[in-house]
Amino acid sequence: MTALAVRDLHVRVGDKVVLQGVDLELSSGVIHALMGPNGSGKSTLALALAGHPAYEVVRGQALLDGQDLLSLPPHERARAGLFVAFQHPPEVEGVKLREFLRLACAARGQGFCEFQKAFPQALERLHLTEFRERELHVGFSGGEKKRAELLQLYLLRPRVALLDEPDSGVDVDALRLIAEVIREMAEAGTAVLIITHYPRLLEHVPPSKVFVLLDGRIAGWGGPELAERISREGFEGVRR
Ligand SMILES: Nc1ncnc2c1ncn2[C@@H]1O[C@H](COP(=O)(O)OP(=O)(O)O)[C@@H](O)[C@H]1O
Ligand SMILES: [Mg+2]
Repeated sequence: MTALAVRDLHVRVGDKVVLQGVDLELSSGVIHALMGPNGSGKSTLALALAGHPAYEVVRGQALLDGQDLLSLPPHERARAGLFVAFQHPPEVEGVKLREFLRLACAARGQGFCEFQKAFPQALERLHLTEFRERELHVGFSGGEKKRAELLQLYLLRPRVALLDEPDSGVDVDALRLIAEVIREMAEAGTAVLIITHYPRLLEHVPPSKVFVLLDGRIAGWGGPELAERISREGFEGVRR
């Protein structure tokens, strides 16, 4: 079942139209990957869909479970079930990880008792127990930030998860843990898009479908063998 459908998406950043007609469909319970060289617009796609004000959609459509996403403000997109794990998660001083997640889960309709039970379990699953009272991402290492983003995913159980380089700055053990959690989320029904320019994580979570972003468009797509081919031949081989 299609959870997210993106059609003919054009996005301007500053004075440059970075995305020039992206078409993409993500299915519930399926792991997809979006690969593309540095600067090809992978983060632009995630941030435009999230509603970041610097990323202006100049044409196209995005439907989440058939609902028009682009007419909604960012918090309504999240409430509708869109989740974005940032490539560079911001540090938010004065906001505790726990409070942030409690409010986010409440906005997604989870009761307080449910959260009280789920939160410690999730902290344990992501090996973040000692971060319970810490401020959101403040002073976290690169790998800790990535695990904290996965903690959000784990608790929020979104319909669609766009994970922007969840593998960057992550050591081998954390990579394995992140891969396991991503697989669990997909098994529970989330449509997952792993954004990466590096096939390392994909060896641990083989995607069912791989999209390649080049020159502002999806230049090719295929099965897991496409990620392997890219790791051998680079992105140029995908250019039509
Ligand atoms: N906030 C911004 N202001 C100006 N240019 C930007 C901004 N964000 C991205 N860009 C530009 O848009 C292009 C795509 O960037 P990005 O989406 O981050 O690529 P990727 O994630 O694939 O590495 C790059 O040329 C980048 O410099
Ligand atoms: Mg990026």
